Amino acid sequence: MRVLVTGGTGYIGSHTAVELIKRGNEVIIADNLSNSQENVIDKIKEITGVKPKFYLTELTNREETEKLFKENKFDAVIHFAGLKAVGESCLKPLMYYNNNLTSSIILAETMAKYGCKKLIFSSSATVYGEPERVPIKEDFPLSTTNPYGTTKLMIERIYTDLVKADPEWNVTLLRYFNPIGAHDSGLIGEKPNGIPNNLMPYIVKVAAGELYQLSVFGNDYPTHDGTGVRDYIHVTDLALGHVAALEKVAESGVHVYNLGTGTGYSVLDIVKAFEKVNGVKVPYVITNRRPGDIPECVADPTKAYEELGWKTVYGLEEMCRSSWHFLEKMREN
Ligand code: NAD
Ligand code: UD1
Repeated sequence: MRVLVTGGTGYIGSHTAVELIKRGNEVIIADNLSNSQENVIDKIKEITGVKPKFYLTELTNREETEKLFKENKFDAVIHFAGLKAVGESCLKPLMYYNNNLTSSIILAETMAKYGCKKLIFSSSATVYGEPERVPIKEDFPLSTTNPYGTTKLMIERIYTDLVKADPEWNVTLLRYFNPIGAHDSGLIGEKPNGIPNNLMPYIVKVAAGELYQLSVFGNDYPTHDGTGVRDYIHVTDLALGHVAALEKVAESGVHVYNLGTGTGYSVLDIVKAFEKVNGVKVPYVITNRRPGDIPECVADPTKAYEELGWKTVYGLEEMCRSSWHFLEKMREN
């Protein structure tokens, strides 16, 4: 298939591009590079032997988006492009609504105009708000607690309404849990700008001595050791979930899947595993809870297994090892 990957120089998009190319798909990447670098395209070539065509595209711009479709006939689009920092979305809500909603609407309008109606969208477990229980199934109630999450839920609804109005569309909404880790080659991974907000990038910087210590946000949650529990998923497993969705979801309609492992680990589980696997120290201090955090967020990934034949293969140790390996490789260059 010829697949447009928006946000394809980003963290999850680049790993997905690799897995798509490995299976013989033609990948075309469009990104405005607001949170990624163009040299990722060369890294993808180094890994796969194939250099994907790259467009520097601002997806909130209709003409720039249309250029992609004028010059290529796509079988499907995987839409990763978007802004994703929760804290920043609270400070700059209009920027988040404009970027994430406008790009998603213009993209779908342009797809319809050019007769491409197969779309896979990056959603998030954040659309479950504070779940009443875990593991979370796809039919649990939806709500959000911050503008970033609201953009994800709004886009899910916009695309669902689109399918209602035009049943020819085939839309898959993938709700990711907590992606961590990096490609086995160490050539691509997550490169957050500045001080990271998320746990694994923060741990990596502490272990590297770039940050003094990790703040563990609360140890009084109702979990096995009091620290927050999440469903961490290796980014390559997540990428393979997209390949499965692309290959298996044949019928038109809206299809929703959780992409997670089904296993929850606490903050301290992650710290200990990271230290053990990589032989490094991660000094930490217990601090207050982070506002907006929930005690536990774990997927029930049964539906993706039954309908897509997809399940995760990487374990916690590999996730910790590859996150560190990526940093070591970056230091070499
Ligand atoms: P990322 O920031 O690494 O990648 C997103 C890419 O989109 C970046 O390369 C950025 O430059 C590009 N982009 C943003 N706005 C754009 C625009 N208007 N036009 C063109 N390109 C634009 O993020 P990621 O972690 O790879 O996430 C990919 C998608 O998955 C995002 O939609 C994100 O919200 C979603 N998601 C991520 C996580 C996570 O923890 N990483 C979890 C759930 C959902
Ligand atoms: C975050 C986003 C969520 C998004 C998800 C996807 C927030 C508030 N939520 O979820 O919308 O869908 O990423 O990956 O940003 N922790 C520490 N110290 C730190 C950082 C984190 O103790 O320095 C703890 C958190 O309290 C949490 C766990 O580590 O228990 C994971 O945090 P994080 O990596 O930020 O992800 P989420 O909060 O689950």
